[in-house]
Amino acid sequence: MYRTHTCGELRMEHASSEVTLAGWVQKTRELGGMIFVDLRDRYGITQLVFNKDQDADLCDKAKALGREFVIQVKGEVMERTAKNDKMATGNVELIASEMKVLSASKTPPFTIENETDGGEDIRMKYRFLDLRRPAVQENIMLRHRIAQESRSFLNKSGFLEIETPFLIRSTPEGARDFVVPSRMNEGQFYALPQSPQTFKQLLMVAGYDRYYQITRCFRDEDLRADRQPEFTQIDCEIAFVEQEDVLNMFEGLAKHIMKYVHNIDVAEVPRITFAEAMRLYGSDKPDIRFGMTFTELNDVAQNKGFKVFDDAELVVGICAEGCATYTRKQLDALTDFVKRPQIGAKGLVYVKCNEDGTFKSSVDKFFDQEKLKAWADKMGAKAGDLLLVISGVKEKARKQMNELRLEMGNQLGLRKKDDFKFLWVLDFPLLEWAEEEERWVARHHPFTSPKAEDFDKMDTDPGAVRANAYDMVLNGTELGGGSVRIHDRGLQERVFELLGMSKEEAVEKFGFLMGAFEFGAPPHAGLAFGFDRMCALLGGADAIRDFIAFPKNNSGRDVMIDAPSKIDEVQYEELCIRAAPKVEA
Ligand code: AMO
Repeated sequence: MYRTHTCGELRMEHASSEVTLAGWVQKTRELGGMIFVDLRDRYGITQLVFNKDQDADLCDKAKALGREFVIQVKGEVMERTAKNDKMATGNVELIASEMKVLSASKTPPFTIENETDGGEDIRMKYRFLDLRRPAVQENIMLRHRIAQESRSFLNKSGFLEIETPFLIRSTPEGARDFVVPSRMNEGQFYALPQSPQTFKQLLMVAGYDRYYQITRCFRDEDLRADRQPEFTQIDCEIAFVEQEDVLNMFEGLAKHIMKYVHNIDVAEVPRITFAEAMRLYGSDKPDIRFGMTFTELNDVAQNKGFKVFDDAELVVGICAEGCATYTRKQLDALTDFVKRPQIGAKGLVYVKCNEDGTFKSSVDKFFDQEKLKAWADKMGAKAGDLLLVISGVKEKARKQMNELRLEMGNQLGLRKKDDFKFLWVLDFPLLEWAEEEERWVARHHPFTSPKAEDFDKMDTDPGAVRANAYDMVLNGTELGGGSVRIHDRGLQERVFELLGMSKEEAVEKFGFLMGAFEFGAPPHAGLAFGFDRMCALLGGADAIRDFIAFPKNNSGRDVMIDAPSKIDEVQYEELCIRAAPKVEA
């Protein structure tokens, strides 16, 4: 037996017992004729003691141990004289009587502790070492628990876990596909799924009325902290349901996970329509951990001689409570913030609501005290508050104000990582206009059903058609999204047509699905949670890569195995694809 206990297990009740541990040497230090070793495994750290007086040879062996050596050690558990209440095992130590080096280690390129000296690149190159750090192990274990709790909830709710293929056909819509050449079918390619969408719908047609899968999805898109080229979804679909049933089911899943992973009871998840979310937050994924909602000020701010406002489609403000004390420097910094090219506002107007009831604004020339008071009243501001106002074309001004609101939330410490605020966003538009392609594209995906009450707008005003589509948002991040699907061939054809797809093209790409709809397709709906995002949010982090055992870097590379990589010429030939031109040395 390699070990009787783990390195996180020993407590006072084990005192005087003989145990064997195995693990990695985190640290050794010598103190007054004794060698102390911190032995680590994924369960914790135990202090080992080697005593010169008891066994000089063993002590010399311990002295020679390097960081990250793997050892097995036998000894007696003793109560510590100097206890360490920061460690779970801190009341005891192991007095070693035998020790065996199971595996030596080179000096690791960075310290394997939570506070490490290793930068991102080196940690990714040696990810197997990075994964030994307790903080990363916590993340991976959290991921495991969330997966288990998701499975437990879905299994109990009658869902079947069914796998769908990874080698499918390319149907670029949304992101780009990763493609895989087929050796046996010359010149033809598979694509890796961006999601199992069409397969789960076919499973509904096939009668498996509750399906789920915790599965990998692949999207060749630009990467950000919350995006990886391969990521995992908790993908679900249900037949014979309406939107309300689906919202309740997956709200139940979110609540179950919060309860059993974090012991937090989530109250009923509030709901907001897309249109309201845009009006009040300028975002389809509002962070509702704090207020500071938008107030539209056109009626009190326009036609008072200030051209910037008069020419604007929208004048919109937020009220930052207690911020009237902001200095000139702080206000300038906020102005610079909204003027950054990524945000693109032309400027920022402020009004300080002074404690004495007067107002001081950056537009005093155009607005007297009475007019500024009208703004403050409309925004529900009180003495001591600061009003921040942006104007311009509606959509842009809202986006800019959204960024400013989030920045203020950060500055005021209102976006706490341990505060979990879920929100449903409903009634998304069915379509959005793609400027570059000059055509309508599906906002969610082309299988999403339009709202019946908006059918008549499909010909006259497609942009105004709302969909039976919903997102679950957590702390300002889109955690999951789904929709009630189309299950009728005629309506599906009509939506493909709206998306500018010819009948032939629609049949070529999605004939299998439309054909299936002609063989008894039940009404169905579903949703997919971004599993990595869920882990990161529940773990209080922004970057999903910290919750993926072997993630890609920002250029989509796995620097540990050095992928992607070139392939052999023979492989090119076998796959019937043209070899990359030889570069002259
Ligand atoms: P959608 O495209 O909204 O819907 O994806 C569902 C959820 O997956 C997560 N997600 C990502 N996570 C990490 N990296 C990425 N590159 C990435 N892209 C998306 C998000 C998102 O909310 N088939 C539909 C679902 C359905 O209609 O049932 C779909 O894939 O958290």
